Amino acid sequence: MEYMGNKEYWDEKFTNRSDKLLSPEKSVVENISFFKNGTVLDIACGDGRNALFFAQKGFKVTGIDFSIKALERLEMYARRVDFSIKTKQIDLQADNSLKNIGMFDNILINHYRLNKNQLRDIKNHISDNGILFVCGFGDKHKIDSKIRKEDLIQPTDFEALDKSFELIKHDKNQDERGYFVTYIFKKKSFKDKL
Ligand SMILES: C[S@@+](CC[C@H](N)C(=O)[O-])C[C@H]1O[C@@H](n2cnc3c(N)ncnc32)[C@H](O)[C@@H]1O
Repeated sequence: MEYMGNKEYWDEKFTNRSDKLLSPEKSVVENISFFKNGTVLDIACGDGRNALFFAQKGFKVTGIDFSIKALERLEMYARRVDFSIKTKQIDLQADNSLKNIGMFDNILINHYRLNKNQLRDIKNHISDNGILFVCGFGDKHKIDSKIRKEDLIQPTDFEALDKSFELIKHDKNQDERGYFVTYIFKKKSFKDKL
């Protein structure tokens, strides 16, 4: 119950985390060349390890999360290096929470699982040829007291994307943290759909 949806848990975690920014997700770093130049929406951005990495690479970044403590830390790191990153406090469990979020060239979801309705709607928030990058614990990850079965990314999640996206890369990895999956989708342009 802790991994997603428990705001107190995350606020406390970010309050007690050391001052040092964590490294960006390995899979994001390895696959940076797939991203389209322009804007990035980092969904459930935490304290910004990936958001800051994108800003450093020249992307215009917006980070959303329900933990104000996480967003405050992200803003602190951004100030330190003089980057401008937009932040918005959003609870992704609320209905239509992404409705007014706007359009982006890339959307990153790293260690969060959107529901099928949110994934179905994501095409309305990514520009043509834009990238949807999803990385996190996959279906074979061990379930424990913090990570529930419903937190794990399932291959069937992406049925909700319909024909608007093309899967351009899919990776599975096992490391000391567990079983990870990466899915990189490209939004088809109007021309591709003809
Ligand atoms: C495992 S962390 C991942 C953070 C970041 N994406 C990263 O890779 O470092 C999960 C994040 O999801 C956020 N989160 C969990 N449930 C949420 C919800 N319902 N709405 C918005 N953010 C949520 C937490 O605050 C936390 O920052």
